[in-house]
Amino acid sequence: VHFTAEEKAAITSIWDKVDVEKIGGETLGRLLIVYPWTQRFFDKFGNLSSASAIMGNPRIRAHGKKVLTSLGLAVKNMDNLKEVFAHLSELHCDKLHVDPENFKLLGNMLVIVLSTHFVKEFTPEVQAAWQKLVMGVANALSHKYH
Ligand code: HEM
Repeated sequence: VHFTAEEKAAITSIWDKVDVEKIGGETLGRLLIVYPWTQRFFDKFGNLSSASAIMGNPRIRAHGKKVLTSLGLAVKNMDNLKEVFAHLSELHCDKLHVDPENFKLLGNMLVIVLSTHFVKEFTPEVQAAWQKLVMGVANALSHKYH
């Protein structure tokens, strides 16, 4: 994927305002609620018994922060996504056995959460740039699957 200067600016304009714990926690929490089968990867994370339990679960929030912090590497290395995520791709494939389809679901969930937090700024152009980034990350994370 190639990002134009305008797309990079659109992505950065939002990213600079993102609270990784808040947005990351909400994104992962919503993923587990909207696509309940994803909960099985997090069965050691404590109480996932209801939507409010998931959204209030500190371990989900902490892991969401970790995931979104890692996505920050994509923002800083948009021209280099495959290299940046090569190691995490191997980890999610060989050790965690996460079906790569879930990377797309998480990316789309992030776009939805960003759109609810940045109502005015999240124009169609900004959304298009973010959509391109999260799909690039999903592809990069799937790259080492075998
Ligand atoms: C762990 C990033 C998507 C399941 C991790 C870690 C990072 C990460 C940085 C920590 C690795 C370490 O400890 O060295 C990402 C990114 C994603 C993504 C950037 C997509 C943008 C997903 C999805 C799932 C998933 C969609 C499952 C539905 C897991 C699990 C762990 C993990 C189960 C281990 C958690 C633990 O036991 O601590 N991920 N991840 N990841 N990820 Fe992902």
